[in-house]
Amino acid sequence: MSPSVCRTSLSRCIALLLGLLLVAVVPFSRAEQPENLELEQRGRDAFEQCAACHTLEPGGETLVGPNLYGIFGRAVASVEGFAYSESLRSKVGVWDEDALNRYIARPKLAVPGNNMPFVGMTSPRARRDLIAWLKTNPSRYDPAESDFQALLVRDEVSRGAQIARACMVCHTASEDMENNIGPNLWGVVGRPIASAPGFDYSERIMRREGVWTPDALNGFFMENKTFDQGSHRAFGRLKRPSDRAALISWLKTLNSGGDHHAR
Ligand code: HEC
Ligand code: HEC
Repeated sequence: MSPSVCRTSLSRCIALLLGLLLVAVVPFSRAEQPENLELEQRGRDAFEQCAACHTLEPGGETLVGPNLYGIFGRAVASVEGFAYSESLRSKVGVWDEDALNRYIARPKLAVPGNNMPFVGMTSPRARRDLIAWLKTNPSRYDPAESDFQALLVRDEVSRGAQIARACMVCHTASEDMENNIGPNLWGVVGRPIASAPGFDYSERIMRREGVWTPDALNGFFMENKTFDQGSHRAFGRLKRPSDRAALISWLKTLNSGGDHHAR
């Protein structure tokens, strides 16, 4: 299955294939969070990485992993009815600061043979924030509380620029540049959908109406889609609301002049 662009333009096709390769191998770097945010918010942000598999409410649902209510100071592998791995079950002790820190950083190394399908949280600061927050014994994690508008207000432009690097394999983003595999994103916030001059959009996107408001972009980034010209698989990585908000904060700067190129 070769994308249609490969039949019409060899150079675009090569760029697209290289681009897809890059998108596949370059992980989004999650920059450190600003120090001044409330612990509550920083902890919740870090927990975004855990929430797909763990609940925090007392007696909360078992997802992929056990409920984590009261995890700080809790005996290892003690949620009744959860099918822990043998290796976690045979680990003695409680989850204190040191044990949690090592497990969250490199689960496979810290408890060889355990079943947590999580590569690890590399940022020491994010781990510190997460553990400090878990220590306060939080009893709920509601992703809606990481309210998108509130996240936008943080205006994490430079983190957004970093995230956008993965987009720049297909998109351009400055006033004087041509479209690439994707349309130029200059001025995209507030721009009518599918309106970059000279870009050959797919039928599908042409059928959408309205302008790219932050909310519309937020929704778009959560969709799973394939275009004639390739795919937006990069979006698969924008699972965290805070990443989408940072990216949109950066996109908003793309019409106020100055040097805002993705670095
Ligand atoms: C993709 C799913 C997944 C993700 C993501 C994940 N976990 Fe887990 N977690 C598990 C599973 C499954 C287990 C049980 C492992 C076992 O039995 O070996 C587990 C076990 C644990 C335990 C031990 C619980 C106990 O009762 O002893 C802790 C602590 C924990 N996870 C914390 C975290 C934290 C903090 C994060 C986020 C940084 C996280 N996990 C991300 C699936 C996940
Ligand atoms: C593999 C190439 C590729 C990557 C990577 C990519 N895009 Fe796109 N993007 C496209 C194409 C192609 C279109 C046009 C889609 C169509 O015609 O249906 C598009 C359309 C868009 C649009 C709609 C623009 C308009 O004028 O209506 C936005 C916004 C957008 N992309 C943002 C992003 C962001 C942000 C990222 C990074 C997270 C990204 N894209 C990554 C190829 C890509």
